[in-house]
Amino acid sequence: MSQMPFGEELSARLEATRKTLASIEQTHLLDHAEQCSEESLEALLDQCDDIDLLAAHRFMLEAASSDYQAPPLESIRPARSIARHPDDEAALRTHGQKVIDDGKVAAFTVAGGQGTRLGWNGPKGSFPAAPLTGKPLFRLFAEQILAAGRRADRTIPWYIMTSPINDAETRAFFRDNNYFGLNRTDIFMFPQGVFPSYDDDGKFMLASPESIAVNPDGHGGSLRALRNSGAIEDMQSRGIEQISYFQVDNPSVRALDPLFLGLHLDAGRSSGEMSSKMIPKSSPGEKVGVFCSIDDRTCVIEYSDLPEELSAATDDSGALRFIAGSIAIHVLSVEFVDRITGRESNEGLPVHKAHKKVPSYLPSENRVVSPETPNATKLEMFIFDAIPLASRSLVYETDRVEEFAPIKNSEGVDSARSSHELQLERAARWLEAAGHGFPRSEDGSRLADVEISALTAMEPADLRSSPDVPETISAGDQLAI
Ligand code: UTP
Repeated sequence: MSQMPFGEELSARLEATRKTLASIEQTHLLDHAEQCSEESLEALLDQCDDIDLLAAHRFMLEAASSDYQAPPLESIRPARSIARHPDDEAALRTHGQKVIDDGKVAAFTVAGGQGTRLGWNGPKGSFPAAPLTGKPLFRLFAEQILAAGRRADRTIPWYIMTSPINDAETRAFFRDNNYFGLNRTDIFMFPQGVFPSYDDDGKFMLASPESIAVNPDGHGGSLRALRNSGAIEDMQSRGIEQISYFQVDNPSVRALDPLFLGLHLDAGRSSGEMSSKMIPKSSPGEKVGVFCSIDDRTCVIEYSDLPEELSAATDDSGALRFIAGSIAIHVLSVEFVDRITGRESNEGLPVHKAHKKVPSYLPSENRVVSPETPNATKLEMFIFDAIPLASRSLVYETDRVEEFAPIKNSEGVDSARSSHELQLERAARWLEAAGHGFPRSEDGSRLADVEISALTAMEPADLRSSPDVPETISAGDQLAI
């Protein structure tokens, strides 16, 4: 009898995992197990336990059998019935504010992305985003949640999705910043799931002797992560009914927007299941998903999947036909997320695949090989694929300067610089709307820079009698209030 290289417990775990892998024809992941140290093998088996390998395999088969097919062109129409400036705005706002006041709304930030385009050394939420103070994204959202909590006279819970890659760093960032003045117990952080990458033969790949090559499962993974982490149960126990969803890279987002909540709650005269915000696209090539209608159901088609014939099509007035750009701001009811992620549900989100270069560890050569051409498939899910699953869904048109200043790239379009410009312009508009003078040149450009904290104002009206606004703002001023 050959001698077991590991202790009894570890050997038993190894055998059990081999069995699971055999059922999905992936035992090659453990072919080198006997050459591993105990620590390495434990790490590898831990990861096998953490990843739901059977589910990952199912997703892989599903992706293989359902190559994304763009729907026939003639079936894609521009999204209809977009809410613009509702007549009953004041009533809707009051309704939305009431559900916040009643403690039925939570903020939810998805912050599990890898931020490769930005190239920031740390979680994206720690990126200095405010134009004058350099406050990081997480602080900007925390200030909004604090301010909204003060207005509602209660604490508002904040759910944050990280990824296994940035979870520890994100937690440390919050700890080091004393949770930005929020109660530790009102912040619920959880890592999203991952998908293993697989090679062109459908085999999962190793990243090192002790780890499988994986990637976060996309912002759409937030729905199953809300369930798997216990966040849904936590929400239910706190009486939360609505989730205000936003991405970590948009400092201008309204973390809790009473008007949007009011619209969502009144969608089709009964409460909506998932609502979305949109802005008119700035150009045919702008890299945002587009709201469309297929078979009378609202959906978003990712910019890379929308054929150019459609993205560039114009109407008689010369306006883009497919103009409704998604800015990834949603309200979802807890009941809806609970339903579509439930055990009995057949309504999972579809998986999208991308062929990418993935470095892989080859046990036979004991080294990591970095390919020169794409060698593997990565899977991910998109949050907007939940929209067609909602029985009632509303799209609300908002204004770019007011709500969308994304930081995606290190320079150029959607960079910190373009975001600062939008944030400063919004502050100037708010001051003007509140009746304060603001210096502008003849062509309308700003002659001063003002940054407004959410703790000072959540909307222009808050600036009217704010003691933080100086009597005059002069050309050349740089002011954080
Ligand atoms: P992006 O699509 O911009 O991706 O994410 P990214 O990973 O941040 O950046 P790149 O593409 O690598 O440069 C949009 C939002 O969705 C979140 C991101 O954190 C961001 O808030 N996201 C994305 C997740 O939470 N998980 C993911 O797996 C992907």
